[in-house]
Amino acid sequence: MRFDVLTLFPEMFEGFFSSSIMKRAMDQRLVEASLVNFRDYSTDKHRMVDDTPYGGGGGMVLKPEPLFRAVEALTEETQVRPPVLMMSPQGTPFTQKKAEALSRHSRLILLCGHYEGFDERIRRHLVDEEISIGDYVLTGGELAAMVVMDSIIRLVPGVLGNAGSAEEDSFSTGLLEYPQYTRPADFRGWKVPDVLLSGHHAQIARWRRQQSLERTLERRPDLLEHAPLTDEERAWLKQ
Ligand code: ADE
Repeated sequence: MRFDVLTLFPEMFEGFFSSSIMKRAMDQRLVEASLVNFRDYSTDKHRMVDDTPYGGGGGMVLKPEPLFRAVEALTEETQVRPPVLMMSPQGTPFTQKKAEALSRHSRLILLCGHYEGFDERIRRHLVDEEISIGDYVLTGGELAAMVVMDSIIRLVPGVLGNAGSAEEDSFSTGLLEYPQYTRPADFRGWKVPDVLLSGHHAQIARWRRQQSLERTLERRPDLLEHAPLTDEERAWLKQ
């Protein structure tokens, strides 16, 4: 999986690229990432990337030339242009499903804006998809791009040590995760549920599934509508 990130603040990615799972994935060449400062593609002698909006009003608008030229330079030699994703609060809400779909591409180009809006021609003629990571406004798309990349890299085969961990976690089952415990069995009088110490795998699986259902019902009932549930589970939810 390869990411090309277009940003005016490449230094914001340093910590993300040099730590933990992302670093290991890059060292193992499972993931490749390049940072492009699209200011380098400005056609302006002052290296401007934004300008005032036509029609007046406050704020600045990102100019089309630098972003188009940066994407064109990245894709010059490729037969099929990879999807170009724009990070924007106006985008489609990002979900685990979307992360799974994007993880099937071998390369993605991510555009990060900062402070200002994008010239509409970037949206219409350069971008394949606009993605929002939530209903709040960030100062720029960089944190959103890191969220999107992080959720995708953990789905790339070989990136997570334990192959089961991406499949069993929240959302891939359509439900929230069940409670987990580790040693000690008794911490300050708070005990681990007996069933988890019982060694009965079928009972443990049943308990976990029930806990997932209860937690989802309590915290995120909206997820239950689309979660794959058995008839018995649907009946239990209705009672
Ligand atoms: N840029 C600013 N806010 C954003 C958000 N919520 N999601 C994606 N990109 C953004």
